[in-house]
Amino acid sequence: MGKVRQGFFACTIMLTMLATTGASMAQSVAGAEEFTRSCASCHGLTGRGDGPLAEYMTIPVPDLTQIRARNGGDFPMLNIIHLIDGRSGLRGHGGPMPIWGDRFETAVIAQRGDVGTEIAVRGRILALATYLEAIQQ
Ligand code: HEC
Repeated sequence: MGKVRQGFFACTIMLTMLATTGASMAQSVAGAEEFTRSCASCHGLTGRGDGPLAEYMTIPVPDLTQIRARNGGDFPMLNIIHLIDGRSGLRGHGGPMPIWGDRFETAVIAQRGDVGTEIAVRGRILALATYLEAIQQ
């Protein structure tokens, strides 16, 4: 491989790495904002389960920074996505219909055939799940 080509490849790899880091940072910021808006009331601003509504819940609000630890060291990304989009009902989230209504219900939105909204909602859910993964301790 010639020097110029080698340089070109190194450059491409570095640019790709930069772009990927930028994208995941943007996703993390979006996830943090969404978390503050939709989840912190119960789970707390840092996800530790100490939000202002936690004391009114009849079941304990879990510490979301310990999901990986509770799961034997693996972050269950798909389960988390299904919890947020309402596919897996959680008592604390109001059963099969989460307390945040159909805001994240991709299945319902997909049925309406509103592809733009569906893609946007999937992005918001992924940002939330990525944010949760990032705050694991
Ligand atoms: C009204 C209070 C409330 C709000 C708001 C809330 N949660 Fe929860 N969440 C709970 C409770 C309570 C549990 C425990 C449910 C149970 O044990 O059945 C829980 C459980 C969870 C779990 C499962 C944790 C585990 O380790 O099993 C995840 C993940 C989660 N919530 C994410 C979220 C996200 C993301 C949001 C915002 C979109 C959110 N929650 C908003 C009360 C809430």
